[in-house]
Amino acid sequence: MSTDAIVLLKEDHKEMRRLFKAFQDAEEGPASQRQKLVNQILEALTVHTYLENEVMYPEVRRLLPDLEDDILESYEEHHVADLLCAELVSMDADDERFNAKTTVLIENVSHHVEEEEQEWFPKVRDALGRKQLQEIGEKMIALRADAPRTPTAPKAIKKALDAVTA
Ligand SMILES: [Fe+2]
Ligand SMILES: [Fe+2]
Repeated sequence: MSTDAIVLLKEDHKEMRRLFKAFQDAEEGPASQRQKLVNQILEALTVHTYLENEVMYPEVRRLLPDLEDDILESYEEHHVADLLCAELVSMDADDERFNAKTTVLIENVSHHVEEEEQEWFPKVRDALGRKQLQEIGEKMIALRADAPRTPTAPKAIKKALDAVTA
């Protein structure tokens, strides 16, 4: 198994895309199925953005100051996703806004993931050595077990609040 930070994050992105597609296919389906898929989406996003916020983004910002603008924009995109996730976690799948809110979340995150993969991950890959990317990846693997899994977990709330008050 690779410990390369970019490989790990792209694996998460792949799983997100799979869940997004599954939701889109189930959009007209039963509420219980949509609820289950959204819960899976919220968990995947909560873990992933936590690892990026705690490890990948600060490391890239420290090592590659030229990418600061990309990192700052990415934090803001995470923040928008955090707000939507926090609303969705307490929303019933029968609510008339449930599908609409999930669709906006999917659109926002898909755009964000594209920017990571197309615009600045390649610059990080070019600038950092394989060993540095593995070290960052190992830090993310170590933190994963402690990562919050729902948007209402204290660590997830703290992250969302820090973004507002920092
Ligand atoms: Fe991200
Ligand atoms: Fe990401």
